[in-house]
Amino acid sequence: YVIGIDLGTSAVKALLIDREGRVRGEASQSYPLIHEHSGWSEQQPEDWVESTAAALQEVLRSSGLSREQVEGISFSGQMHGLVLLDADKKPVRNAILWNDTRTTAECREIERELGDTLLGVARNPALEGFTLPKILWVRKHEPEVFGLSASFLLPKDYVRFRLTGELYMDYSDAAGTLLFDVANRRWSEEILRAFDLPAGFCPPLVESHALVGVLLPGMAERTGLAAGTKVFAGGADNACGAIGAGILSEGLTLCSIGTSGVILTYENDKESDYAGKVHFFNHGQVDAYYAMGVTLAAGYSLSWFQNTFAPEESFGELLKGVGEVKPGAGGLLFTPYLVGERTPHADSQIRGSFIGVDGSHTRDHFARAVMEGITFSLAESVAVFRSAGKKVDRVVSIGGGAQNPVWLQMQADIFNAEVAALENEQGPGLGAAMLAAYGCGWFDSLAACADKFVKRASAYQPQPEAVKAYEGLFDIYRQVYAQTRGMNE
Ligand code: XUL
Repeated sequence: YVIGIDLGTSAVKALLIDREGRVRGEASQSYPLIHEHSGWSEQQPEDWVESTAAALQEVLRSSGLSREQVEGISFSGQMHGLVLLDADKKPVRNAILWNDTRTTAECREIERELGDTLLGVARNPALEGFTLPKILWVRKHEPEVFGLSASFLLPKDYVRFRLTGELYMDYSDAAGTLLFDVANRRWSEEILRAFDLPAGFCPPLVESHALVGVLLPGMAERTGLAAGTKVFAGGADNACGAIGAGILSEGLTLCSIGTSGVILTYENDKESDYAGKVHFFNHGQVDAYYAMGVTLAAGYSLSWFQNTFAPEESFGELLKGVGEVKPGAGGLLFTPYLVGERTPHADSQIRGSFIGVDGSHTRDHFARAVMEGITFSLAESVAVFRSAGKKVDRVVSIGGGAQNPVWLQMQADIFNAEVAALENEQGPGLGAAMLAAYGCGWFDSLAACADKFVKRASAYQPQPEAVKAYEGLFDIYRQVYAQTRGMNE
């Protein structure tokens, strides 16, 4: 048996998996977010450690297995969060998380300082969520705290460090720091030099399936697992989400609709160039990459709609009638920019809209328009990929968007691609467990593991008539951004 630990933003989940890929136990523990000021988002690293230990206790208990039966564990982690450590490897302050937006000034500084190196080496634009802007913020605003800092880790690396006593980071998570040379898979001396950061500030790098230590006796007691249990590095949550959905070869694309939405394509070629319009990160599979576009308010747009207009109803009730409304929602168009938009606009000020309201429209038209608007926004990422020559014709859909057959057909029609859900979707926790399974030597490759663990359900094919109707609407959708820009300034 192996355990995948998914260290998320609001909770940690532990998933105990057998050799067939079946779930034998599940447990979850939540922890608070700390918002001291508007736009700030922090967590206490000790909360992660405590909650992870409790989740491991619980998952083992619920499985009825003995501790010796667990061969290995690995991780999926929320990306980008900064954990600064002193010379004794103790956190010098709370972790600053990926969804913290205090670092706009530092992002401009990084752009000025690095110029072309930013996209050339780090392969990503400077966004507030990434790690380097957070490091520069602490150095500028809390110099005494920064003075104590000897190194840094990302969230799941800190939890792993506490379990094993070893400091490591894997390539897929290092890719989100802006200190990493993505194509050459090493810390960028050029970037470190530009910001006067010593090489020793960055932890040693490993593959996601690498064995990086064993469970320390003290932590064995706290987690209920056996001392000496193998611990594998793990990966970024988006990389683990891709692994857990079997996105392990060229030609496969992931569509994940949670609170935010993601379109992610597998990339063999480290030279793939999307000019910084989408993220380009290292995969958890050796020598592979993924490109990723993000819609900030995906599922969030539908939750907002439900909370505002149907607070007494379940999603099921709210969406009951959307299948009766034809593609195009009777001319009603929605843009899901409730909290700004990341891909392709990287604009935190833009806000959403309903356009084309007709006296005959019902709530079902509005609900359908919201689903279509979210999907159009994701289709903008698909368009970025396609215009760079990438083929997007086989999509695996996960998250809330995969729960509803009307939405799955809508994705097939709007993306003009085959769309399949998974039979027993488990998210990034399964990807983490698969890294442990591969690390333990159960399989020759991650792909062989996915063949056994990840089953695709029957696929939805694009319907030519609907594809045509949506193409026309998508053209209009794409014009709305420029037309409504500035309305909220
Ligand atoms: C990716 C990102 C989020 C976090 C969420 O760039 O910021 O998906 O990984 O945990």
